Amino acid sequence: EMQAQLKKTVVLVGMMGAGKTAVGKALAQVLSVPFRDSDSAIEEAANMSIAEIFARDGEPFFRRKESQVIERLLEAPPSVLSTGGGAYMSADNRKLITGKGIAVWLDVELPLLWSRVRHKDTRPLLRTPDPHATLRELYAARVPVYARADVTVKARPHFSVEDMAVKVRNA
Ligand code: S3P
Repeated sequence: EMQAQLKKTVVLVGMMGAGKTAVGKALAQVLSVPFRDSDSAIEEAANMSIAEIFARDGEPFFRRKESQVIERLLEAPPSVLSTGGGAYMSADNRKLITGKGIAVWLDVELPLLWSRVRHKDTRPLLRTPDPHATLRELYAARVPVYARADVTVKARPHFSVEDMAVKVRNA
């Protein structure tokens, strides 16, 4: 069953700190397809970090680049594609993803997300006077949208990449 060819790109969506990149790499291995990451693709094309892009060109510019990169990566043969936490908030992006991929939400609860992102300085959206409150607000606003994904994978007790592979194959 695991040998069957993947027909659609598996698009991982979810909050900052959900583990989209780590889980995506493992899932790509199990599915024997390439791993791609929209944030990395944007950074490579711009030759700047995400934080630098936000600081220099602003979030709207970043979001345009993000949509272009997602569209381009969805043209390629099926892969596992990890997206930035805000990517699935765009109706245009959701339409692209639904057409060519399977959206998989990595559903992780707020305390665990916070414990993972609190010591990092790489996320421009959390450079606020109260990053914990900002994360909480983003979480509350975004969860109802992530919940529209084709597949939801709950974090507890931990992601089983094999279970996920079966779920996305059956989706
Ligand atoms: C963002 C999440 C980041 C990155 C950018 C914006 C967001 O990706 O795309 O900082 O809007 O949640 P990760 O989810 O990989 O941290």
